[in-house]
Amino acid sequence: MVNTTIRTTKSQEIFNSAQKLMPGGVNSPVRAFKSVGGQPIVFDRVKGAYIWDVDGNQYIDYVGSWGPAICGHAHPDVIAALHEALEKGTSFGAPCVLENVLAEMVIDAVKSIEMVRFVNSGTEACMAVLRLMRAFTGREKVIKFEGCYHGHADMFLVKAGSGVATLGLPDSPGVPKSVTSSTLTAPFNDLEAVKALFEENRDEIAGVILEPVVGNAGFIPPDAGFLEGLRELTHEYGALLVFDEVMTGFRIAYGGAQEKFGITPDLTTLGKVIGGGLPVGAYGGRQDIMSMVAPAGPMYQAGTLSGNPLAMTAGIKTLELLRAPGTYEYLDNITNKLANGLLQIAQETGHAACGGQISAMFGLFFTNGPVHNYENAKKSDTAKFGRFHRGMLEHGIYLAPSQFEAGFTSLAHTEEDIEQTLQAARDVMSSL
Ligand SMILES: Cc1ncc(COP(=O)(O)O)c(C=O)c1O
Repeated sequence: MVNTTIRTTKSQEIFNSAQKLMPGGVNSPVRAFKSVGGQPIVFDRVKGAYIWDVDGNQYIDYVGSWGPAICGHAHPDVIAALHEALEKGTSFGAPCVLENVLAEMVIDAVKSIEMVRFVNSGTEACMAVLRLMRAFTGREKVIKFEGCYHGHADMFLVKAGSGVATLGLPDSPGVPKSVTSSTLTAPFNDLEAVKALFEENRDEIAGVILEPVVGNAGFIPPDAGFLEGLRELTHEYGALLVFDEVMTGFRIAYGGAQEKFGITPDLTTLGKVIGGGLPVGAYGGRQDIMSMVAPAGPMYQAGTLSGNPLAMTAGIKTLELLRAPGTYEYLDNITNKLANGLLQIAQETGHAACGGQISAMFGLFFTNGPVHNYENAKKSDTAKFGRFHRGMLEHGIYLAPSQFEAGFTSLAHTEEDIEQTLQAARDVMSSL
């Protein structure tokens, strides 16, 4: 859609300058809007379900800083707790009681986690968990799924979905073949393919890592029996099962996908929500495995800012807010209205579409589907998604700038926000 109805002069000026200062003008690729066309808007501030750009336009936000903002942006309780924590300093680089508090909350909430280690990002958590899988099993190979993203560490940049897919890069230059040769891939929801890999690589596979609900190839839930099947296969072949819950943790249920689907992995990675908007990641799991991590055991992993008091504080407050009764029912209810509404409008306006939602995570593909894996997702009309995205932006709705990203709602989104979003979608889809 070329007719810009919102003024974005300042955004354009700032982004033009940014392009001379930072690669592509951004510090994370998908923010550059490459796959939807047009220039990104530059944010000025965020509050609740809304964002404001530097030109003063207001949008309803369905990105939520890519997941952390599940209580709404800049929640007053989180901000107040951060103010208090700030007075005591920003980083200790030493033990602090806040680490115990958040660790206990995570251990109480996430069934598989008996011990946890905090790091600074989801990438770091996944990188460390892979080292731990290898250290514990004494095996090198790992199975991941096409379209699943586990951060940008070398060994995971194979069929890695989201940013990589959005930019059309099959892999990344700079990643040595020797590193990725131990990374085996299978289509999501394909147990037979996983079994075949185990058979071909007997006693060599350390474990299987996956997004239990994929969010980095668009929203793709597991088929009935898939997660159970992986649990059985990993047991059968003496390998570990790792849920990357950086996105799903505390989002699709307080206890994550493992609570939602009743499957207990051996190890879990977390990020996003548990930092309440500050940089955080975590990995945890069975005590016998976690005891291998230094200094309790020989597997080295460390971090200057890990467990810093600000991130711990924002995480603790966010989880406290999420523990309130009715939270996940509310999230499920509004997100269900949104996802169903979008599908219905797509059908009424004559667009091939499919999609769905679990709790506060949703997706819409411009293809008839069904979408069970990344190959199916790639059949989406991405050019149409680009026009849809631009149109929604011009109607004051901020969606993730890629067909291959899930959307997020928050406790701050109201029924009226959803109504307004659906009205905008009707207008935009009618003119696509
Ligand atoms: C499932 C999953 N794992 C890992 C990561 C990497 O996390 P981070 O961006 O904090 O490094 C992401 C980021 O989107 C993710 O969605």
